[in-house]
Amino acid sequence: MNILFIIFILIISSIIIKIYLRLTIVKCNSQMCLIGKTALITGANTGIGYEIALDFAKRGARVILACRNEQKANEACRKIINGTGNENVVVKLIDLSSFASVRAFVEDVKKSEDHLNILVNNAAVLEVGLNSLTEDGNLLVMQVNYFSPFLLTVLLTDLMRKSKSSRIINLTSVMARVAHGFNVNKMGNAVGTLNDYGITKLCMILFTIELARRLDEREITTYSADPGLVNTEIFKQTPSNMHNLAKFFKRFFFKTPEEGAQTPIYCSVAKGIEKFNGENFVDCQKIKRYTIVERQQSKQCWDITEKIVSLKPNEIYLS
Ligand SMILES: NC(=O)c1ccc[n+]([C@@H]2O[C@H](COP(=O)([O-])OP(=O)(O)OC[C@H]3O[C@@H](n4cnc5c(N)ncnc54)[C@H](OP(=O)(O)O)[C@@H]3O)[C@@H](O)[C@H]2O)c1
Repeated sequence: MNILFIIFILIISSIIIKIYLRLTIVKCNSQMCLIGKTALITGANTGIGYEIALDFAKRGARVILACRNEQKANEACRKIINGTGNENVVVKLIDLSSFASVRAFVEDVKKSEDHLNILVNNAAVLEVGLNSLTEDGNLLVMQVNYFSPFLLTVLLTDLMRKSKSSRIINLTSVMARVAHGFNVNKMGNAVGTLNDYGITKLCMILFTIELARRLDEREITTYSADPGLVNTEIFKQTPSNMHNLAKFFKRFFFKTPEEGAQTPIYCSVAKGIEKFNGENFVDCQKIKRYTIVERQQSKQCWDITEKIVSLKPNEIYLS
């Protein structure tokens, strides 16, 4: 076949896919005002987290940007304040690769805040082939993406309970649905593959299911949210010889961070979704209900994680 003809077909197919993707982008249409509410977003200095924080600030919330890099976080904070006129946006530092940092962060939040209405566990890393260990002896991707958000959430629930109808949103990914070989008894044995990233996101789904079961839904509900494929810094690890192609591909086919933020924003503010407590959302819609196997796995996963993050007896108030 003529090479020009193949290129022509590729261009036409790409344009059709692009048009389809544009037409199927879903926006969160909720007009919910967040004046008087406090929202905390991890990894809010860039990407999807930044867009979520910007949206909450526009709605009038007090917004806590929970970030690891002070300079980047302060820049993001300034941009949000200048862009929205909402001066009630603050930075607090947290490094999710350290349980000590998570604990110090929670102490700080509890000192400065008398309520917390929305927690978005957004921060994550996609580290493929880098099997670096944290100071706590866990694979970095497991600790940043799952163990530390678990610890952070459990330690913050008593503050969140002080307001009625608080919400916890856990970011997940399509990679959770294709992750294979997950064994709850071997969570500490990850080796740093793309599959391990998927497993961390599967753990976030299981965590959300079990958290929903343990929480009183009059006080707090929880949802896992999949933003879709989004053009952000999470893909910075692309090999250099593929750099330009990958850049083009991401720009052309992936969502913008603002578009990717829509599902987590929806789960945070949409009215009447409490009946879907614990469920997984994609494109601002609930996808299939969780299965009995997932329910069993989620309980087992919780029990093992509690030990890994070393919860103290007086902190196990979700049983
Ligand atoms: N992009 C996608 O296509 C996609 C698809 C499915 C799911 N998601 C999920 O969406 C969420 C946001 O991802 P994104 O694409 O917006 O990624 P991103 O642009 O790379 O942002 C990730 C954020 O996490 C922060 N972070 C990384 N390690 C941290 C640590 N040790 N402690 C505290 N913060 C840390 C980063 O801080 P620094 O800026 O300091 O590095 C950054 O603020 C993630 O949960 C991701 O798994 C993304």
